Amino acid sequence: MQNDTCSRREFLKRTARYSTLALSALLFGADLAAAFGRESGRSTAILYATRYGATKQTAGWIGEGMASKPDLVDIEQVSTETVLDRYDRVIVGSGIWIGGAHEKVLEFFGAENARLEEKLAATFIVCGSVNGTEAGMAHARRYLSAMHAPLRAEPPISRAFGGRLAIEELSDEDVNALREFYHSILHKEMSGWDRRNPDPAKRFGMELSRKPSPQRAEEAPL
Ligand SMILES: Cc1cc2nc3c(=O)[nH]c(=O)nc-3n(C[C@H](O)[C@H](O)[C@H](O)COP(=O)(O)O)c2cc1C
Repeated sequence: MQNDTCSRREFLKRTARYSTLALSALLFGADLAAAFGRESGRSTAILYATRYGATKQTAGWIGEGMASKPDLVDIEQVSTETVLDRYDRVIVGSGIWIGGAHEKVLEFFGAENARLEEKLAATFIVCGSVNGTEAGMAHARRYLSAMHAPLRAEPPISRAFGGRLAIEELSDEDVNALREFYHSILHKEMSGWDRRNPDPAKRFGMELSRKPSPQRAEEAPL
């Protein structure tokens, strides 16, 4: 009976703690993954911006490659300021649409470029230009430079990964924009493709775990 009372008390204590956490996560516009990340003492977040899922998936593969598992956080679901308060380091990834990264990533880099000098561990993009050609890689480098433009300094490490185009999933607006692009720039019919590959993303995660951040070389790897 005594035990029963104790475990019930313990249960109530725990549920109260977690519901407070969930409530504050909602109030501050943070998602639960981020909130529980703080609770579990994790200090790295992969903040990703996606429209159709390939960037989220790539963020997951990068995380799989990392020795210490990061939290995956959707930039559209959180206040980026809260993410910086909460995590020691952030890795930021974006899809590329009509030549550019997600506007929230650019806003974040501009608004927080001072704090990001210390906390930004890496960036990555997911796009169609990773297609095995030199011209494609040159495009990818340009997308990365444009994404980094609002920062004060280049991030320590960056990478471009192949994404996916599934025509049937696209919004009407995106179908029209792409149809125009294929027609007037590429001079061919629009068609879907899939350039996703978990292996380079996992290797990138492993690389991040080996590479100490330049500002904090004495610290444990990511
Ligand atoms: C409307 C639209 C525009 C795109 N523009 C580009 C582009 O300019 N350059 C490129 O390399 N890939 C481009 N892509 C391919 C995307 O980068 C690719 O689909 C990627 O997987 C998007 O990330 P997401 O799946 O996380 O949304 C475009 C895709 C869409 C739907």
